[in-house]
Formats: sequence, C-alpha cells, structure tokens
Amino acid sequence: MGFENLRPLAPDPLLALMGRFRTDSRDRKMDLGVGVYRDAAGETPVFQAVKRAEGRLLHTQRTKAYLGVEGDPAFVALLGAAIFEAGRGLPGLQTVGGTGALRLAADLLARSRPGRRIWLGTPTWPNHAPIFAAAGLQMLGFDLLNPASMRPRPGAMLEALQGSAPGDAVLIHGCCHNPTGIDPDTAAIEEIAALMAARGLIPLVDLAYQGLGSGWQQDGEATRQLVARVPTVLVAASCDKNFGLYRERTGALFVSSPTRAEAQSLCSHLAALARTSYSMPPDHGAAVVKTILEDGDLTKLWSAELEAMRGRIGRLRAALAAYGDVGGVDLGALAAGLGMFAMLQLTPQQIDRLQAEFGIYMAQSGRINIAGLAEDDIDRFVDALRAVQGVG
Ligand SMILES: Cc1ncc(COP(=O)(O)O)c(C=O)c1O
Repeated sequence: MGFENLRPLAPDPLLALMGRFRTDSRDRKMDLGVGVYRDAAGETPVFQAVKRAEGRLLHTQRTKAYLGVEGDPAFVALLGAAIFEAGRGLPGLQTVGGTGALRLAADLLARSRPGRRIWLGTPTWPNHAPIFAAAGLQMLGFDLLNPASMRPRPGAMLEALQGSAPGDAVLIHGCCHNPTGIDPDTAAIEEIAALMAARGLIPLVDLAYQGLGSGWQQDGEATRQLVARVPTVLVAASCDKNFGLYRERTGALFVSSPTRAEAQSLCSHLAALARTSYSMPPDHGAAVVKTILEDGDLTKLWSAELEAMRGRIGRLRAALAAYGDVGGVDLGALAAGLGMFAMLQLTPQQIDRLQAEFGIYMAQSGRINIAGLAEDDIDRFVDALRAVQGVG
C-alpha cells in the first residue's frame, strides 16, 4: 500500500530492442543496437588476460572480507597511473562501473551547490540526462549535430559555453563519443580547456571507451589535457568495455583539484555519498584489473587483445566508409569517427523497415554499433540501406 501513484514505466528502449532481437528467428539477423563489443563470430568474449587473472585470484585470494567504501586503493592507483601519467595518478575511489562514477560525480556537484548547472551536448548516451536529473542537476543542452544534415557542428561546445557561468559543470566524452563517434581534435580540446579554465567551469569527463579508438595513450590525451589545464576536473572511468568486464561493474572516479587538501575533502564527500547508496563497490572486476596492471606479461596480453578489438572496429569502419554515399546516408563520414558507434541519417520509418524486412536491429536514434557487424554482413547491410531508401 502507498504506491498507488506509481504507474508502471515503459522498458528501456534499447533493452526492449534486445528482447525483440532474441526472439527473432531469422538466422541472418544483425544486432547493431546494444553497445557491447562483438568479435567476428558475434561473441563478446572474456579476455584471455582476464581469464588468467581470474585463475590467479582463485588460487591466491584468501578472504572476501570488506575492503572499504573506496574499494581497493591499489586498483585505483594502478588505473590512475595508466590513464594519467605514471607517478601522477589522481586521488579517487573505485565505483560501480562508469555509471556509478558518473552518479557519484553528479551527486557531488549537486551537494556542493544545490541547483548546479551541467552542460551537455546532444545527442549523448541516453543515460546521462536521467543520471544528472536524479542527482538534482539542472541541465543545459546544446546540439552537437546540425539538425538538418545530422553532421557534426565542430564549434558547438565553444559556442554554447559562451553562455556559461562560473561553477557550471560540462560533460565531456573522453574519447569515442557515444553515439556519434566524433571527438574534438587536439586543437579544439585545447580551446575548450582554455575557455573552461578562464570561466571557472568544471569538466566531468566520461571516459568509458579508452583503448577502443586510436590507442590507449592517444584516447586518454583529451582527458590529460583537461586535467593539465583546468583547475578542477572529475574523471569517471570505466573498465567495463576495455577489459570486457561489463557485468562485473568496474570503474573509478578521479578528482583533480587545485590543492591536495581540497581533493581529499572532495574524496571524503564522495565516500560519504557511496556509503549511503551501495556502501562499497563489488571487488571482482577491480581485482582482475589490478592483477593485470601489476603484472607486465598480463598487461602485454591485455593490450594486444585490446588492440585486436580496435583493429576489427577500424577495419569495419573503413569497409563501411568505402561505400561513400548510399542513397543519402553518408557512410563515408564514418572514416572520421572512432570507437564502436556512428549515427546514420535514417528516419524512424526506415529504421523500422530495416528491422521488419531485413532483421537489422538498431537504436531509434540511428546509432549503430559497428562491432555488431560480421565482415560478411557488410554488403547485405549496405543493400538493405539502399532498399529502405528506395534506391539501387
Ligand atoms: C558513454 C558511456 N558512459 C558510461 C557508460 C557506463 O559504463 P558502465 O557499464 O561501466 O557503467 C556507458 C555504457 O554504455 C557509455 O556508453
């Protein structure tokens, strides 16, 4: 009793799409919807490096006793050294995946200034706005794409931030923008960082795909540039994609502050926020990442596996881009993107037809997960795109 005013909510559209895909009996169906990496066989495999680390943990772990609100500080230090420069890791705490890090960061921003504003370029990962709303942040959106052509507007963020006020937060995708795949180049990031420093803004960097774009180091470059130039930065890092740990919910939130004392104070608030939510993060994924990063051979193996994933995504991107314009859908533009995602200029009706007539599943926004394609699916995918546009 007492819940009469709650009506059932519609399922998350992407989860609903997954459900429909599973029950589709066509054997040449394609799942380009869900944002997980898939290999050529359509699997999301466990990394060999992860399997080996798990083997070690099985034999060496002596206790499952609580670790603490901050999780495992050794994991946080190793991941921090891998993202930032060795020896220049930032203080932080282990979180429940990248999502948990984003939520803690949003809670901290809201707790320290009720009604705080956060700028976010759209389109973005569909969970960003609900997370920020749940934390009580006030959102200010701006278009990253030109609404008519759906092409990126390169100066969109700089232009929008002309309306910013000191203390506003700004969501930044660290690399491999989800859903567009288009990241600002080094010069643009420098301009953005300079503007943020000058205006007293706080970047909240969502670093969920490091290593899936151009390489681990290169993919961390924008984040490091922001940390170097802007006094206060929050970095929400996920290990769920780049270590293939998805369900193990592995991530960390790092804090860069002008003084060590302030960073420590912010970390104490983050710990208090975690304590009243989930108390402590799950250990297994972080223990695996720590085992890999503290062992040179396992690190090499993991890096090679990550490189193979990146290579496959890059080859698929290039193969699609080689088709150029397909009846108004500019596949050529995919060459400029990085990571698993790209947006295609399709109408909702065309997206429905791809699903109904060709068994091709993608988000209603037109986002595709490129890694969902098998190499020999590409011709059929392009033919289907032509067919729903009445060409070819
Ligand atoms: C842009 C972006 N940020 C954060 C996340 C969250 O990752 P995690 O599974 O680690 O919570 C995702 C996951 O899809 C994402 O796409």
